[in-house]
Amino acid sequence: MQAIANKFQDQLGTIPTDIHPEYNHVEGDPTMKALTWFGAGDVRVIDAPIPDITEPDDVILQVTGTTICGSDLHLYHGEIMALQKGDILGHEFMGKVFKVGPNVKNLKPGQRVVSSFQIACGKCEYCKQNLSSFCDRTNSSSLQNYMYGQRDAGFFGYSHFTGGFPGGQAEYVRVPIGEVNLLPIPDSVPDEKAIYLSDVLPTSYHTVVDTGVKVGDVVGIWGLGPIGQCAARWALLKGASRVIGIDQIPSRLHFAESKSGVETIDFSQYKDIPKRIYEICPRGLDVALDCGTFHEPKSLVHKVQKTLMLETDVPETINEMIVSVRKMGSCGIIAAYAGYANGVNVGALMEKGVRLIGNGQAPVLKYWKEILQDYIIPGKFDPTFMITHRVPIDDIAKLYSAFDNRIDGVEKVFVETQFSAPPSQGCPRTRRVDEWSEGR
Ligand SMILES: NC(=O)c1ccc[n+]([C@@H]2O[C@H](COP(=O)([O-])OP(=O)(O)OC[C@H]3O[C@@H](n4cnc5c(N)ncnc54)[C@H](O)[C@@H]3O)[C@@H](O)[C@H]2O)c1
Ligand SMILES: [Zn+2]
Ligand SMILES: [Zn+2]
Repeated sequence: MQAIANKFQDQLGTIPTDIHPEYNHVEGDPTMKALTWFGAGDVRVIDAPIPDITEPDDVILQVTGTTICGSDLHLYHGEIMALQKGDILGHEFMGKVFKVGPNVKNLKPGQRVVSSFQIACGKCEYCKQNLSSFCDRTNSSSLQNYMYGQRDAGFFGYSHFTGGFPGGQAEYVRVPIGEVNLLPIPDSVPDEKAIYLSDVLPTSYHTVVDTGVKVGDVVGIWGLGPIGQCAARWALLKGASRVIGIDQIPSRLHFAESKSGVETIDFSQYKDIPKRIYEICPRGLDVALDCGTFHEPKSLVHKVQKTLMLETDVPETINEMIVSVRKMGSCGIIAAYAGYANGVNVGALMEKGVRLIGNGQAPVLKYWKEILQDYIIPGKFDPTFMITHRVPIDDIAKLYSAFDNRIDGVEKVFVETQFSAPPSQGCPRTRRVDEWSEGR
């Protein structure tokens, strides 16, 4: 798939953008550790050149924390188009400002900042409304434009389908248009509470807000990875009367029950999820949120279709959501999808008047200040609840496999570098991945 996508992209040419993914190297070619993609199931930590200021709006960060996301697993499985060997991955990270380009006035070397996972220009029609993930000027992918009619912003470390920008699972990273895409963090907020402003916090918040969770709603959440766990908490903060979480990983089901008071359904035990939902909630759900993953088919029919490339994405969760919500209920899709799915229950969608909302890639800039000021600083939402492990960057290739297999109750991980501060009080200490995943 990658070879065809890259070839097609070459033939289409690229769309002009304000910024470019290629970067200059620091003089003398010193190197840094960086996690790179080499093929499905094959990611490696290599010594890569350290980026230098390349365009005048650039900021170079020394990465003080990074992590892994369910979206990285789509890359790991080779499910996202236009990956190239040697691509540096990672779109959630924070750091200390190391160097600033001549146009950057609001940041100084040494300052602590979080980066948005998307790269916004700050000037286009979408950026003016803080819809940063939809920026028109930073993604050169004509392939995405061809498939979707329009294209997302450029993203860090998320294939050439989103611009081919090197990511932040590395010791240094270049952040284009740093004035717009970096958020300064006050000293009172430790790294473990700040880093997830990059993606998982705004993303989970966005699906709850964008799908319209209201006071008293019964909300169903498919997928209890970090996004689902946070979405459950946001739904409760927005006044949901019940949250029902669906997954099959025992540790994740238990985590949601014990830490957030979520009712759960284990889909390995209940094969017919809508049936079970109607048993415990006869009226149907008011809102359903897809926080799962499109590349894990449950049924034979979709396993076969996916293997034969008759579909790229699996519609099972979408169908379960459409059937499980009440008439005129809402379904939000925040889980990343890539292409086409067969057999969507369009009849139920239409007849029940279901509002099926593609939440899009979350516009981080719309929410990150609000989340920091109104929720993290006053202690209304403590993101550290989801951190289960802390590992050194040397182990991040092994972390891909451990996170993919959901070993040892892993939820969100903090990945440290040589520039990280010691773990904050109450947060996990550093452990090698082998210590908690060996033999499993
Ligand atoms: N739109 C955005 O801006 C954005 C940003 C970040 C992540 N995401 C997406 O959100 C999703 C969740 O991310 P995460 O980090 O929590 O991922 P994760 O892989 O850790 O968690 C996904 C969970 O979904 C569960 N699951 C799989 N199939 C299921 C099914 N049929 N029914 C119910 N549960 C099922 C898995 O067991 C797993 O626990 C991913 O698809 C990711 O790509 C989207
Ligand atoms: Zn992500
Ligand atoms: Zn823009």
